[in-house]
Amino acid sequence: MEVVIKETCEQMSKAAAQEVAKTLNAKPNAVLGLPTGSTPLGLYKELVRMHENEGLDFSQVTTFNLDEYAGLKQDHPQSYHYFMQENLFKHINIPRQNIYIPSGTTDNYLAFCQWYEQRIRDCGGIDLQVLGIGSDGHIAFNEPTSSLGSRTRIKTLAKQTIDDNARFFKAGEKVPTYAITMGVGTILEAHRIMLLANGEAKAEAVAGAIEGPVTSMNTASALQLHKDVLFFLDRGAAGKLKMTAYYEWIQANLPGAPAGTG
Ligand code: PGA
Repeated sequence: MEVVIKETCEQMSKAAAQEVAKTLNAKPNAVLGLPTGSTPLGLYKELVRMHENEGLDFSQVTTFNLDEYAGLKQDHPQSYHYFMQENLFKHINIPRQNIYIPSGTTDNYLAFCQWYEQRIRDCGGIDLQVLGIGSDGHIAFNEPTSSLGSRTRIKTLAKQTIDDNARFFKAGEKVPTYAITMGVGTILEAHRIMLLANGEAKAEAVAGAIEGPVTSMNTASALQLHKDVLFFLDRGAAGKLKMTAYYEWIQANLPGAPAGTG
């Protein structure tokens, strides 16, 4: 695992965007796994800027989103379809048919989940999976005690997650109780994974994920089993790590980087 700590959320987002751009430059038809939430907003903004100003090309890219609320139509302002369209897809040159987001309105969730997994396989797997992390350590909607081998499925959300997300819904509007989500096992099959976290509210979950035991109580901790994971943190999210000096030492002395420039 590599842990990159930046002073601000903006710096963290820009560093993460550089990593995505590096992937696309090396493989223009890369398959990206994408999250929603407040965390990736800075990353998406920077990718849009790079597309507009630097010609970052998405014309051959395929994307798979992690999750979607069950029961929300695509045009609901809190649906993840809507979020992705507004914050990324409508601003870049990705072909519509290359975008995959779990359906919140399928009448057969089981069949849809199997089809989604098969589509990921048919596209050659996910080259770079971007993740956020919940305050309870969840990745996608894999709440505490989700199986670390889980696949794409319909999932009941934890009360904490419903409460965390209530701020995005209108007063009195019901926050969905279920979501369709990639599983931890699905995520672990990505060739490369990067997890972004900002703010003190994530510090405990981040410390558990990086330095705690591998446990379904913090599903992000399963990333410790993956061969190629990159954490991008701001100072707040890194606040409860014990080995910060070590991570910073490594970044300052990466093979090939002049000492002290990390
Ligand atoms: P957030 O959500 O980016 O809105 O904090 C992250 C998550 O729940 O995975």
